[in-house]
Amino acid sequence: MERIFSGVQPTGDLHLGNYLGAIRNFVRLQDDYDCVYCVVDLHAITVWQDPDELRRSIREVTAAFIAAGIDPKKSIVFNQSRNPNHAELAWVFNCVARLGWLNRMTQFKEKAGKNRENASVGLYAYPNLMAADILAYKATHVPVGEDQKQHLELCRDIAQKFNNDYGADFFPITEPLILGEATRVMSLRDGTKKMSKSDPSKLSRINLTDGPDDIAQKIRKARTDSAPLPSEPGGFEGRPEAENLIGIYAALSDLNRDAVLSEVGGMMFADFKARLIDKAVEVLGPIGLEMQRLLGDSDYIDSVLSDGGARARAISQPILDDLYDIVGLAR
Ligand code: TYM
Repeated sequence: MERIFSGVQPTGDLHLGNYLGAIRNFVRLQDDYDCVYCVVDLHAITVWQDPDELRRSIREVTAAFIAAGIDPKKSIVFNQSRNPNHAELAWVFNCVARLGWLNRMTQFKEKAGKNRENASVGLYAYPNLMAADILAYKATHVPVGEDQKQHLELCRDIAQKFNNDYGADFFPITEPLILGEATRVMSLRDGTKKMSKSDPSKLSRINLTDGPDDIAQKIRKARTDSAPLPSEPGGFEGRPEAENLIGIYAALSDLNRDAVLSEVGGMMFADFKARLIDKAVEVLGPIGLEMQRLLGDSDYIDSVLSDGGARARAISQPILDDLYDIVGLAR
C-alpha cells in the first residue's frame, strides 16, 4: 500500500483552517493508505515555546487528531521527538539541500520578518527537517493545505538530488494532496490574510475547541460587504471575505462551490451567516467536546503517542540503515 505522512505543529490553538485544509483529509485517507500522522514538536521549537505549554499542545493536537476521527490503532499517531530518525535524516538533508533553495522559501521570509539576523538556524533549515519527516518513511503522498506546497516542492528536489548524487533509486518523489474546497482558509477579519494561529485577533479564527457560542459570535462578527451573495463562482471580484465564507460553507457541507451558490446565491449575509453558524456548530461541536474529554485522560493520549512512536521507528529505522550504508557512514 502507498504511504501517507503528514504533520501538524503543536504551537497553539488548532483552527478551522487546520481542520478543513489538513486534519479532515487525514481522516478520509485512512482506508486507502498506510498513514503516519505526526505532531511535529521539533518543528515547533524553531521559534520559542514555553516547555509546559509545549507539553500541553502536543496532547491537544493528538486529541484533535483522534476526536476528528483518526483511528490510532489503524494509523500511526505520535510526536516527532519520539523517533530520533527524523533529526538524523534532517542532518543528512542539511548536506544535500542548497542554500539557494532555502533562500527562496517564502514561509521563512514571512516568519523571520525584518529581524532575519535574529531568526534561529532551525527556522531556516525547517524545510529540510520536513523533507526528513516525509522521506524517513518513504511516504508517497502528503496531504496538506496550500501554504505547504513550496515546502513539498523542496522535498521533491531533495529526494531527486539525493537519488542523483548517490546513483540510487532510493527515495520516492512525493506527491502533495491538496484536497477539498477549503485548501486555504482565510482570516474572518481580513479575506486577504490566511487564517493563522499567530494572528493576534481571536475573532480572526474559529478554534477547534470553541463552543457553539464562540463559533456563532465569530461568524456573526466576520467581515463581509453589503451586496447580496453572487450566484456564479466568477462573481467574487474584489470580495475575498464573501468568497472565503462560501468556501468554508462548501467544505463543511461537503459540496462544491457551484452547488452552494445555486443554493445561497442572491441571499443577504445575515441569512447566509445563520446557515453557516448551524453548519459549523453541527460539524465542529462534537469534535470540540470529544477533544475536551480526551484531554481529561492524558494517560490514554500518552499511551497512543508512545505506541505510535515505536511503530513509526520500526518503519524508519531500516530505511535509515540503508541510507547510512548508501552514504558510506558506518554504524
Ligand atoms: P501547520 O502546523 O502550520 O499546519 C498544519 C496543517 O494545516 C494546514 N493549514 C491550513 N489549511 C488551510 N487553510 C489554512 N488557513 C491553514 N493553516 C494551516 C497546513 O497546510 C498544514 O497541512 N510545516 C507544516 C508541518 C509539517 C509537515 C511535515 C506537514 C512538518 N513536517 C511533513 C506535512 C509533512 C506546518 O507548519 O503545518
